[in-house]
Amino acid sequence: MSNTVIIGTQWGDEGKGKIVDMLAEEASAIVRFQGGNNAGHTLVVGGEKCILHLIPSGILHPGKICVIGNGVVLDPEVFLKEIDALAAKGVDISPERMMISKKTQIIMPYHRLLDNCRESYKSEESKIGTTGRGIGPCYEDKASRIGIRAADFADPELLRSKIEAALVEKNALFVNLFKAEALDPEKVFQDILPVAERIVPYLADTSSVIQEAAKDGMILFEGAQGIHLDIDHGTYPFVTSSNTVAGNAAAGSGCGPRTLERIVGIVKAYTTRVGSGPFPTELFCSNGDTLQQNGHEFGATTGRKRRCGWLDMVVLKETVRLCDLTEIALTKLDVLSGLKEICICVAYDYNGEKVAYPPQEQNSMASCKPVYETLPGWDDDITSAKNFDELPENAKKYIKRIEELSGVKVGIVSVGPDREQTIVR
Ligand code: GDP
Ligand code: IMO
Ligand code: MG
Repeated sequence: MSNTVIIGTQWGDEGKGKIVDMLAEEASAIVRFQGGNNAGHTLVVGGEKCILHLIPSGILHPGKICVIGNGVVLDPEVFLKEIDALAAKGVDISPERMMISKKTQIIMPYHRLLDNCRESYKSEESKIGTTGRGIGPCYEDKASRIGIRAADFADPELLRSKIEAALVEKNALFVNLFKAEALDPEKVFQDILPVAERIVPYLADTSSVIQEAAKDGMILFEGAQGIHLDIDHGTYPFVTSSNTVAGNAAAGSGCGPRTLERIVGIVKAYTTRVGSGPFPTELFCSNGDTLQQNGHEFGATTGRKRRCGWLDMVVLKETVRLCDLTEIALTKLDVLSGLKEICICVAYDYNGEKVAYPPQEQNSMASCKPVYETLPGWDDDITSAKNFDELPENAKKYIKRIEELSGVKVGIVSVGPDREQTIVR
């Protein structure tokens, strides 16, 4: 089995968690390489649901190594809560199999505060609609070279001095711009100490761990968010603060780029988006409500209603070229059952010109009108289909059209949330 990268091809929530959980069976290690607890990855095994925000979605498979890579921003309290909840269910979360890179950046309380102050301060039209988890401010500190790294938790004096340094500018902002109270560095330090002590046993040189694990089998890299939320290639400024593209699986986990062999793009059979930003195929009619309700489209992290629309091939083709997809896993195909007709956006009308890729100027996607192709729907319930031939003819036609338009094979089709409701071609 080749080392495999799983990425979301749209704006997140494509069903990455489910596919990672399914493929983890064949992996020796599962690695998160970017993002933080802005992610919400849902696994359903034997009818039981488990939502993970930070811990790799391979954790339910006994014996597999799970790594939080250097490219992740880790909220230590959320990590410990997740660990405790899994332990209570009898899942092995010992440091022998669950490891955090010493280089991972830590989300501090002041990052969450800054995230929320900034969002409240912005006008309605400029709000990003962040998850409020402190993701952006933590990545800012990393780039400003004042971030707290996981290894600092083992060195309290260094930790104290770094907190003091990080709060100088932030307190000026809290007090003078946001009219909030200043944070006392000593209190922040004292509050984090017991948390830090519990994190230290999980610290590891995860580059070496991954290199060793690769000798025993496949490494599975678990992306978070989606390619169109990428800080460079997404719908800037309505994006997250990390690179979500497949290439970052190498940098964000401390591997060389040749480690990445198979790149599986998770494609939801329609499109959803949470938070602000352009979404050309968004539906404001009853079809949008049908997708939202039948797909239970509520955010796994914030509980917000997800905006819904048709499948957008312009978005998908951009992902194919940015990430070198070798394969597509098509999810939530069952949600389309019952629709008379299904539309696929095959191009955009951008100021009267037909374009096949998203234009690159800021917010230009907001001026793009979708050009649709319409395919016939199907009525049959497909949630128990076990192989491709069992699918209705029109569902097969839909899949084949996606392959033709993207130039990428659909190797996996998901027809329900459970691990078992998956067709491998
Ligand atoms: P992720 O962030 O990409 O891991 O996706 P989320 O977990 O946030 O959202 C995907 C949702 O769809 C979850 O509730 C999954 O349980 C569910 N899901 C995944 N695959 C399928 C599928 O094929 N059919 C249906 N009906 N639900 C699915
Ligand atoms: P998974 O991994 C969907 C969105 C937020 C917001 C923008 C920036 O479950 O697919 P942030 O808190 O990252 O600064 O918010 O990005 N966003 C997601 N949307 N799924 C996610 O993760 C997301 N993570 C962030 O809604 O629009
Ligand atoms: Mg999600």
